[in-house]
Amino acid sequence: MRAVLSGIVLAFILHTTFAIVYAPKIILPNSDSVWTVGHKELVQWNSTGIPKGTPGMIMIGYLNPGDINEHLNWTVAKGFDLYESHQSIVVPKDLNPGDNYIIVLFGDSGNASPTFTIKADYTRKRRDDRRRVKKSVA
Ligand SMILES: *[C@@H]1O[C@H](CO)[C@@H](O)[C@H](O)[C@H]1NC(C)=O
Ligand SMILES: *[C@@H]1O[C@H](CO)[C@@H](O)[C@H](O)[C@H]1NC(C)=O
Repeated sequence: MRAVLSGIVLAFILHTTFAIVYAPKIILPNSDSVWTVGHKELVQWNSTGIPKGTPGMIMIGYLNPGDINEHLNWTVAKGFDLYESHQSIVVPKDLNPGDNYIIVLFGDSGNASPTFTIKADYTRKRRDDRRRVKKSVA
């Protein structure tokens, strides 16, 4: 009796554990990705086996050598459906260009991307510089 009971309890624990944990595999960004500050960028993942209506969250962080802290300082999307295999986000403007950025995609559990690059928006900078030159000429 006890064995049957503990079997049922174990089955229940296994069922609930496996039923709620989704850590979708990130496809984009990958290690070749280059995102631009202030631009709209695409996050894509493998949604195979994820039921409709599973809420997700995306955070941007960065890694420093010899430090396990992921510095997940920027939440860029929240409450979207993980069943859809992609979500566009806007790269926050208060983020310094660097090649050590990651995103973490959360379902009930998190999965990190490889590190990738975020660069400054040079077109915007050039435009601002031109404006500045014009102003100083006038
Ligand atoms: C997504 O994951 C499933 C199951 O692990 C796998 O069969 C499939 O090939 C993957 N698809 C992509 C695009 O990676
Ligand atoms: C990220 O957050 C940590 C902890 O709050 C802080 O020490 C760090 O300066 C932040 N980094 C940036 C780039 O905002």
